[in-house]
Amino acid sequence: MEEEVEPFYRELPKVELHAHLTGSVSVATMKQLITGKPHLNIKHSMTTIRKGQQRTLDECFEVFKVLHQLVDTEEDLLMITKAVIREFAEDGVRYLELRSTPRVETKTGLTKRRYVETVIEAIRQCKEEDIDIDVRFLVAVDRRNGPEVALETVKIAEDYMLSSDGIVVGMDLSGDPTIGHGKDLLPALQKARNCGLKLALHMSEVLSQKEESELLLTLPPDRIGHGTFLHPEVGGSMSLVHKVRQQNIPLELCLTSNIMSKTVESYEKHHFLYWYQLGHPCVLCTDDKGVFSTSLSQEYQLAASTFGLDQEAVWMLSQQAINCSFAPEAVKEQLQQRWAEYKSQLNC
Ligand code: IMP
Ligand code: ZN
Repeated sequence: MEEEVEPFYRELPKVELHAHLTGSVSVATMKQLITGKPHLNIKHSMTTIRKGQQRTLDECFEVFKVLHQLVDTEEDLLMITKAVIREFAEDGVRYLELRSTPRVETKTGLTKRRYVETVIEAIRQCKEEDIDIDVRFLVAVDRRNGPEVALETVKIAEDYMLSSDGIVVGMDLSGDPTIGHGKDLLPALQKARNCGLKLALHMSEVLSQKEESELLLTLPPDRIGHGTFLHPEVGGSMSLVHKVRQQNIPLELCLTSNIMSKTVESYEKHHFLYWYQLGHPCVLCTDDKGVFSTSLSQEYQLAASTFGLDQEAVWMLSQQAINCSFAPEAVKEQLQQRWAEYKSQLNC
């Protein structure tokens, strides 16, 4: 897959803002996990959707269940987190916000707090190893688990935001969009916002979420994941579009993920074009690079070839993503400086 990416896209410095940890585990790491747990009888085809294949959203969520069986100890978690960070760095990602849902694994003694601590430890180890990437962590709320778990997760996120030296910066709302309703999670999300956690929320991933999106926009979120059905051409509304525009809320857009999980019909019909033409901040992301067999370089190349973007436009997209991140202002300035140095080298 990697050789299909032109050098420009690989060398382009990139910001990844929408990457689920478990979904980002590569085929190579997955092989290692499968080999280490032969009793689970898991086949590679159960953990990755190959290029050109498609699955329903339901089937994609089944894949995550399999992956969770494979990653059930602190050691696994430390190993996959470090591998995912290394792979993003090798792909030219210089700033990464990883998101993950803290899980309990009674059999191995993994607790939600140990889960978060292990991810933070992996991020710290990568920093000590001088891997050229700045990594932050968004603690994820799985919408399927309801309001009480959401509140518990917010408390965990708040505690680590205060004690992780800036590694935990915010929260994600994700999980099967057809299950549960945002209104039940609103108090938890409000609490998160009030204590200073940034919010990146999956919104309007499926058409039935129009009312929920209206509600979530009152928070408002700091970034929107997917937002596939916000605009009127696909059953959303101008009222939703106005609210997103007025508050200038960046969209995290994941082309391959949406095609493979069949929420968008084709690359050409991807809602990237709608928002990009409005001049709205759009950030290209991978979502689950392992499950969907992609990389961020590849997503940039795909956007460029599908929508006719020249190198200057691609550059602007990548640079604009810095301001959409949850990094402190001083870090954003440093990243802008690095981007300027890269620009003269890349000659675009
Ligand atoms: P983890 O939180 O690191 O275990 O990453 C996998 C989890 O991310 C899944 O169980 C889902 O809750 C969430 N996730 C991954 N991709 C998507 C998506 O496209 N939509 C909604 N949730 C997702
Ligand atoms: Zn996602």
